[in-house]
Amino acid sequence: IRLAVIYGGRSGEHDVSLASATSILTHLDRSVYDVTEVLITRGGEWVVGGEPLGMGSALRRLAEQDVVFPALHGPYGEDGTIQSVLELIGVPYVGSGVLASAAGMDKEFTKKLLVAAGLRVAAGVVLRGPQSTVAPADRELLGLPVFVKPARAGSSLGVSRVDDWAALPDALALARRSDGKVLVEAAVRGREVDVAVLEHPDGRVTAGPPLEIRVSGPDFFDYDAKYAGGAVFDIPARLDPAVTELLRERAVRAFGALECRGLLRVDFFLPADGSEPVVNEVNTFPGFTAASQFPRMWAEAGLPFPRLLDTLIATALP
Ligand code: DAL
Ligand code: MG
Repeated sequence: IRLAVIYGGRSGEHDVSLASATSILTHLDRSVYDVTEVLITRGGEWVVGGEPLGMGSALRRLAEQDVVFPALHGPYGEDGTIQSVLELIGVPYVGSGVLASAAGMDKEFTKKLLVAAGLRVAAGVVLRGPQSTVAPADRELLGLPVFVKPARAGSSLGVSRVDDWAALPDALALARRSDGKVLVEAAVRGREVDVAVLEHPDGRVTAGPPLEIRVSGPDFFDYDAKYAGGAVFDIPARLDPAVTELLRERAVRAFGALECRGLLRVDFFLPADGSEPVVNEVNTFPGFTAASQFPRMWAEAGLPFPRLLDTLIATALP
């Protein structure tokens, strides 16, 4: 099977993509896959099999593949842009299509679609353009602390916790380095639990065993906690079986609500009062190193990394 793996990319998660792709390239069964590596540099240049190519030539090489694995995180990769190019050249690819990728990358529209499907999300206010204050009624609604997030970014880049409204302008300025559209979101107190959803080649969509993230120290699960070892994962999460089933049902529902394909990681907060889980965010292409949540959840479910890759690729093939 001729397979191209695209990685790197123009987003702030370039390095995260390099790590994900390194793991993917290591675990692919080379007796099955004839692999072409496609690096997109931070500046947007395409390097195919080590050779810098213009975009036109790079796309011609992609069009020769049986299937493409976009191992990109964040804007210009996980947001429907690369997916639309692959649609245009008519080559099958792993993961969600244009709409789900775009909606899943945008925290404003993710919320709207999830709410329409009856899922619970945290209250949030979207600030566009130069708008730099949150109206008093909204402050009342959100309470403190709030999380200030670029609407379209990943790995918590540009995210900060605001404990005092006086700190809002700095938080907005930081978020706006990633995206001009910013979400100011109510904090949810509770356990943080991720669920991995996978579509199988026969069309079944299943959820794996939940994973609980325990962050050491006073901070939230920020970039450093994600990549410098500041968190511990419990897999499976120590949960009441009924809660596990509820989370898995909600995660599969989120997959359907966004009309995803292939895979999705749904990140929840479990409120301390035992009420309905809150979807914090979704990732149409979650972190994919062997130590990342998504592959570890499937390994726990009996699907080791190479077989997880086989499943994703088989589902993508026509
Ligand atoms: N956006 C990163 C890769 C994650 O959520 O896993
Ligand atoms: Mg993310």
